Amino acid sequence: MKCIQLCMGSSCHSRGNARSKDMISEFLSKNGLEDKVDFRGMLCMGECGDGPNIIINGKLYHHVEEGVLLDILNEVFAEDLSS
Ligand code: FES
Repeated sequence: MKCIQLCMGSSCHSRGNARSKDMISEFLSKNGLEDKVDFRGMLCMGECGDGPNIIINGKLYHHVEEGVLLDILNEVFAEDLSS
């Protein structure tokens, strides 16, 4: 199962991950991926200066602002979107 871990520490949360949480939920729902992706929040990982941070399938993404989030999701889940 694929996994998205969203940093919900106060810095990442206030710098974009609050909004990203809704965007990711919407993306998973819209594409029928809710049962295929383990989506969870995580505590501060100590990399606040490079946030907002998101880990997808074990890979850490820094500076995941609203404008790039959908691009990342579309790329990572491309295989699932086309099937
Ligand atoms: S709040 Fe996200 S790394 Fe610290």
